[in-house]
This record gives sequence, structure tokens and C-alpha cells, in this order.
Amino acid sequence: MDIQKLTNTVEELLAPGKGILAADESSGTIKRRFDSIGVESTEENRRDYREMLFRAPGVSEYISGVILFDETLRQNGADGTPLSKVLTDRGMVPGIKVDKGTQAIPGSPGELMTEGLDGLRDRLNEYAGLGARFAKWRAVITIGDSIPTSRCLDVNAHALARYAALCQEAGIVPIVEPEVLMDGEHDIDRCDEVNEATLREVFAQLSRQGVALEGMLLKPSMVLSGNKASDRACAEEVGEKTVGCFMRSVPAAMPGVVFLSGGQADDEAIVNLNAVNLRAAQVGAPWVLSYSYGRALQAAPLKAWSGQAANVEAAQQAFHRRAMLSSAARQGAYVPEMEKELTGV
Ligand code: 13P
Repeated sequence: MDIQKLTNTVEELLAPGKGILAADESSGTIKRRFDSIGVESTEENRRDYREMLFRAPGVSEYISGVILFDETLRQNGADGTPLSKVLTDRGMVPGIKVDKGTQAIPGSPGELMTEGLDGLRDRLNEYAGLGARFAKWRAVITIGDSIPTSRCLDVNAHALARYAALCQEAGIVPIVEPEVLMDGEHDIDRCDEVNEATLREVFAQLSRQGVALEGMLLKPSMVLSGNKASDRACAEEVGEKTVGCFMRSVPAAMPGVVFLSGGQADDEAIVNLNAVNLRAAQVGAPWVLSYSYGRALQAAPLKAWSGQAANVEAAQQAFHRRAMLSSAARQGAYVPEMEKELTGV
């Protein structure tokens, strides 16, 4: 394992004031996003939309790397330049989603396991040849009456660790993503308990399978109330509980946490990330706490674009704005007035 190569990539991805754009929606997910704006999900439309984001003026000040779907890593932009080169020319690191989605866990109703380990070593070598320097694998943990079960945590953590070890062998930084879904009526303490159990299992498996913590990133959920909870916790409590949970379960040798937005509204994802960073500074948390947002960065530009070439500039500005606000939050420097200044309201 070339640890120096891995830590160099980690350092680039965690560069001050920057975070990651997750633009790796699978075919089904991007179709749902396009359906919401009445655009057909053709290969060309997907290319145009993503190229528009990658070429948005000024965003590389806030975006260090972009997670791509397999199709995008192989695609050329409208002028024939490979999209991975469009990114590297602008100082952004191309990454790749390598899991193959989820399936039901046998004998565990309502729980999912992630597939994609078969043939992964060969795929990683191919992706490295195509320019990918980091990867993502998403495991899904659902909160319900008697779930998650220990079986669910075990199979998902095991797969995450096997994926991470293979990535490091190929010189690719693994982003380890155990997403605890925010769907449900549960309160923030239940989310805290499930996140802690999940993270403990994930780091136990990473250790067992020889993964170098210095050469990886963690992409977790924040500790939040369920989206249908009657009384949702405020940002300050989210900051306190999230940092507290990680202090108990995430080793200090792991350099960076890049949160997913996970269905939070885009302003909520920013306010909460800011609160997490304020709390981290108070308690001296050892990690960089940044973002790897999909929906929270893309909801505004997707809507502004709506499939019309005439809207490209407005969509790029919308993306730039969300990236800039996320960057402020990642430094604990976000204040709501920023939204007003930017929109001129
Ligand atoms: P969201 O920020 O939309 O949750 O997406 C991040 C991601 O990569 C999920 O796997």
C-alpha cells in the first residue's frame, strides 16, 4: 500500500474551506431528479447537466473533489474533453462510486445490504487508469422499531471494510459511507445510539481488515431527529450530539469526516454543518468536519437549470452560492445574513 499517495489525496480533498460534490447519482436516482424538473434522462442531458456543474465559474474555491457515476467518468464534455479532465484542469479531484446499490438482507425484513464486491479489484484498477483517485461505497442503515439488527450492522460494516482495503491496495482513497437514514419518527437520542453502534462496528471491521485510517475518509450522517419526529432538535443540539457521538466512536487517526446531506433541506444541511463545526472547536475534536453533499448542493442548480441551455448561467450561480455557503459552514463561519447578501433580498 502506497500510504503517501493516499494521504496526499486525503489532504487535497480536505483542503481548507473546501468539500466534495457528490454527483454520482445512479441511473434510477438521476432519472427521479430529472423527472422532478420535467427533463428526460438521456445520456446527453445527464452529460450537459453535470458538465454545467463542473464548469461553474469559481466553484473550485469550494469544491476539492467530485464523486462521479461510472457513465460520467467515461464521458466527454460537449467539446470532446473527458469530463475527468474538465475537473482536473480546474483543480478538482475525480472520484468514483463503486458500490452496486442495495438488496434486502435475507431474514431481516426492512434492512438492506450493499452489493458490489465481486470483481471490485479489477474495476478499481480500471477506474484508477481512468483518473479516479478516490471512491465511495454507501451502506444504508434504517432506523425502525426493532432495527437496525446486529446482523445488518455486521454485514454492512464488513462490506465497507473489504471495499476500503481493496481501494487502498489500488492507490484509491476510500470514502466509507455508513448512511443512517433520517426517515422516521425517532428522536435525536435514538439516532445518536444507532450512529454510535454503526460507527463502532465500522471501525472494528476496518481495523480487522487492515485499513489504514490515515488514508481514508468517513462519510456519515449527522445525528438528527427523524424527518417525521414531532419535535425536531435544533442545530445547536445537532452539533452537540453529532460531535459527542463521534468523540466516542471515531478514532482520531482518521483525518476527515465529510457529511452527506441525506435529505435535509439545503439550508438545514448548512446550518447544521456550521453548528457541528462550532461544537467541534469548543471540544477540540481532532478531525476536519466537511461536506460531501449531493442534494444540498444540487437542489437549487437543478431547479434553476430545468433542462434549458438559457438557464445555464443562473444554475451555475445557484451552485456556486450553495458551495460557498457550505464552505462557510465547514469553517463554522456561516451566518444567516450571508443568504440575504447573496440573493440581494
Ligand atoms: P446526499 O447529500 O444527497 O445525501 O448525497 C450524498 C451521497 O453521496 C449519498 O450517497
